[in-house]
Amino acid sequence: MRKLALVTGSKGCIGSAITEKLVNQGYRVVATYFTGNLRCAELWFEEKKFNLEQVRLFELDVTNTEECATRLTTLLEEEGTVDVAVNNAGVILDSLFTKMTADSWNTVIDTNLNSLFNVTQPLFSAMCEKRGCRVINISSVNGLKGQFGQTNYSAAKAGMIGFTKALAMEGARYDVTANVVAPGYTATPMVETMREGILDAIKSKIPMKRLAKPEEIAEAVAYLASDAAAYITGETLSVNGGLYMS
Ligand code: CAA
Repeated sequence: MRKLALVTGSKGCIGSAITEKLVNQGYRVVATYFTGNLRCAELWFEEKKFNLEQVRLFELDVTNTEECATRLTTLLEEEGTVDVAVNNAGVILDSLFTKMTADSWNTVIDTNLNSLFNVTQPLFSAMCEKRGCRVINISSVNGLKGQFGQTNYSAAKAGMIGFTKALAMEGARYDVTANVVAPGYTATPMVETMREGILDAIKSKIPMKRLAKPEEIAEAVAYLASDAAAYITGETLSVNGGLYMS
């Protein structure tokens, strides 16, 4: 039987590459999109030439605890299982800490970190009951090393790593693994729209002298989702071209 993966933020560059990779590996993917963005999600679905067996579009505001609990409980009833949960949805609102508003702090923490509670908790008991399931959280090199102008984002992305290690301990007895993929600077609009001088300065510090491709992040996710990674848990797999080695 086809395994089912849930990918949040699935039509962003990295989310889209993860969805495609998992579909190509035979998963059915529940691809979440943000409230009100159905048309955009449908266009993405058509452009990628998915069919309804492969991908189910699923509206979800990952910052809304009650909505996630209700909708994901219903999803479990409808689909029977979620074998792999990929927490990928994320935003950046960069600014110097002295200029950072409470709104941009809260939005980044809610979307990137609190979403892990909101999305994973309604699924986790069923995953443990089924055994052998996977939670994969997409953090960032900047959660490992910190980044000028990203106190909110670095805090959230570092928090994801602590969450994952703790969850890994709770899932282990059920053969449920929890791991992190920590991308470096990846060729996505989020990165490519940074001020030119800043992006050039960052690129010059990457030993491989290039951005990651979204597909390279997706490969790491697919590996951690696979049977080959059954004994890996609580780990952070960096895909950063050597930018930071922890
Ligand atoms: N280290 C030390 N000082 C730095 C610095 C750095 N890395 N970057 C900038 N500064 C200095 C500047 O030289 C400047 O100094 P002066 O006042 O003496 O001229 C001062 O700090 C203010 O910098 P800016 O002029 O850049 O300030 P700003 O308010 O215009 O912009 C910012 C602030 C938006 C945070 C901007 O610096 C920036 O975009 N930084 C990059 C943040 C970044 O890396 N974001 C990653 C986005 S992609 C992502 O996050 C995906 C992922 O997971 C990897």
